[in-house]
Amino acid sequence: MSVLHPTIQLAVLVSGRGSNLGAIQKAIDAGDLNARIVLVLSDNPEAEALQFCREKGIPASYIHPGLFKTKLEGDAELQYIEAIQKVHPDLIVLAGFMRVIKPRFILSFAGKIINIHPSLLPKYPGLHTHRRALEAGDTVTGCTVHFVNEVIDGGRRIMQARVPVEPGDTEQSLAAKVLKYEHRILPEVIRLVGSGAVTERNCPTEPLLFQG
Ligand code: GRF
Repeated sequence: MSVLHPTIQLAVLVSGRGSNLGAIQKAIDAGDLNARIVLVLSDNPEAEALQFCREKGIPASYIHPGLFKTKLEGDAELQYIEAIQKVHPDLIVLAGFMRVIKPRFILSFAGKIINIHPSLLPKYPGLHTHRRALEAGDTVTGCTVHFVNEVIDGGRRIMQARVPVEPGDTEQSLAAKVLKYEHRILPEVIRLVGSGAVTERNCPTEPLLFQG
């Protein structure tokens, strides 16, 4: 017997280009993902992602992120929380949102926040992941989708895709290769978490490996 799942309601937080946001919408449009992006929030008024939303008719807003450069705190944090609470999403996706989110935000949406990160976590949390992989001489890198907790890029890992590092790879070439896999695993994880098949509690210690 097939089980019909309701459409997964998504809020997506972005800061820039928005290619992962685009990949989510593409999977939805293709009928591969039964979801709807009900809200996009950006901390950057110039984000290309906002332009994409205008073209696609996706509800989107820039909310001033407050005084801090790298984190979301105080009144600004509250505004983000309230805007998201209004749309009652099943899942909040950090898709290139370049700010650390704090406990109040995390606790407001417990178990419902996922992030896409361009490394094989626990390797290289934070920034410049591809540079660090090259400097370390890694022969394999990749990307991870994980639940968000209070440790930066430290929450339970849900799925990873592995990408070989080839001779001659640069930070840019590696970023481009890994990004293609980000676009594939993110909709996949949204499906798994949004349907309740994977939860923060039942998430295995070792992440699923994307079999492209
Ligand atoms: C991606 O590489 C993502 O993993 C990282 O920021 C980048 C965002 O790219 N967190 P985009 O805005 O989705 O194109």
